[in-house]
Amino acid sequence: MAEERILIVDDEYLIRWSLEQNLEKEGYKVLQAESGEKALEMVASEAPDLVLLDIKLPGMDGYEALEKILKMDRDVIAIMITAYEDVERVVRAMKLGAFDYITKPFDFSKVHLSVQKALSTSQIKREVKFLRQEKKNRFGLDNIIVVSPSMQKIITMTERLAQSDTSTVLIQGESGTGKELIAHAIHYQSRRENMPFVTVNCAGFMEHLLENDLCGHEKGSFTDARELKKGLFEVADRGSLFLDEIGEMNAGMQAKLLRLVEQKTFRRIGGVKDIHVDVRIITATNKDLEKMKDEANFREDLFYRINVASLKIPPLRERREDIIPLAKSFVQKYNEEFHKNVQKISKGVEDFFLSYSWPGNVRELKNVLERAMILGDGDTILIEHLPMEILPRPSNQAGSSEGIHIPPEGISLEKVEESLVRQALKMTGGNQTRAAKLLDISRDALRYRMQKFNIAEAYFAP
Ligand SMILES: Nc1ncnc2c1ncn2[C@@H]1O[C@H](COP(=O)(O)OP(=O)(O)OP(=O)(O)O)[C@@H](O)[C@H]1O
Ligand SMILES: [Mg+2]
Repeated sequence: MAEERILIVDDEYLIRWSLEQNLEKEGYKVLQAESGEKALEMVASEAPDLVLLDIKLPGMDGYEALEKILKMDRDVIAIMITAYEDVERVVRAMKLGAFDYITKPFDFSKVHLSVQKALSTSQIKREVKFLRQEKKNRFGLDNIIVVSPSMQKIITMTERLAQSDTSTVLIQGESGTGKELIAHAIHYQSRRENMPFVTVNCAGFMEHLLENDLCGHEKGSFTDARELKKGLFEVADRGSLFLDEIGEMNAGMQAKLLRLVEQKTFRRIGGVKDIHVDVRIITATNKDLEKMKDEANFREDLFYRINVASLKIPPLRERREDIIPLAKSFVQKYNEEFHKNVQKISKGVEDFFLSYSWPGNVRELKNVLERAMILGDGDTILIEHLPMEILPRPSNQAGSSEGIHIPPEGISLEKVEESLVRQALKMTGGNQTRAAKLLDISRDALRYRMQKFNIAEAYFAP
């Protein structure tokens, strides 16, 4: 561990000297300043972890120095030194943000204890700051790869919703489109960013446990309730509660949730006091909730309550501009994670990515690349690194040493050719350049075959 740095600020040389002797023995790096003015300079240039600050100083006094130091560097912690235990002085210093105080003449065992506590608090503060920043970076908008106009709109809406702070948001989209990512982004762009983001997976909930998990219970409210337990609603206070897969809730759970979402007030099981919380509710589903509502599978009142603002994330196949940028960003991510140095995605793989339907959306693309990067050892991702099951059949067979198997009763070569041309056009949504690539023939050769088999160009257009 790096040496912890302590700055001693006192106008009396002997005090500084005795503290220095003592603290250096404990392994700390000790710095000295004889005035408040000098202390400010040293906080700026030396960034100490802890300042021991005398209240009574010539010139700028300890209170003023404390205020200025805390303003300069909010990570630094201050312990005040006072000649005698004067409650008023101590209270004033603590109100200004001092961590503790020590009295002269020193009882060094107390000094060490106070220093240790202050430094471990400072360490925790730094860790929390670091983790918060890391979380913010991880869930920030910079990490959401967006090129397509439809997703750019989603990002603009996400930013607006983050600012509006309280409105309930419903995020809809197929599995793997990025619903959870957007939910995080809303939270971490909002003023709630330093408060909890609590996720509840509604699909995994047993109805009878829902109330206990969401609302908590008082000690002794039932046989197993040995201690008071806060529910997730309470844990999320001043933050956001993300109700994922809300379309999976049964009628009983929907009724319970309606009350909570509407009033944001509840009682712990066995409790007599109403608890009100300030939570933003974000919900997500891959179901068509509107249709569920129309078919009476989802409560209408709950639907309207959660659908105050809604985001519909399009499937990946409807925003193909995002595919290659996403793929490249995942290659970078896995390069770092697996200590690899993949530089390129081959043209064949890019063409395949652009033509594939991606039923599992961005998650599927991410998984395909993760696997490809584990399998491959060169600097390029090639078709053979992709999982067989997603590749088009004909090219699989053509790639095998046997080629296409002829059944015992024989096969019409013309029919096979026509079928392959049709499949390639279907897979590429009618894009002739890409279809030709899939079949490894020129565009002219493809056109010739389309005429030969009387395949209309517009037929496959998306
Ligand atoms: N635009 C994007 N940029 C970068 N990564 C993305 C993007 N969209 C999704 N991802 C990544 O794809 C994966 C799936 O996203 P996420 O979990 O948010 O999807 P989801 O819609 O919640 O899926 P499910 O319905 O299955 O829960 C995650 O690893 C996420 O980080
Ligand atoms: Mg999800």
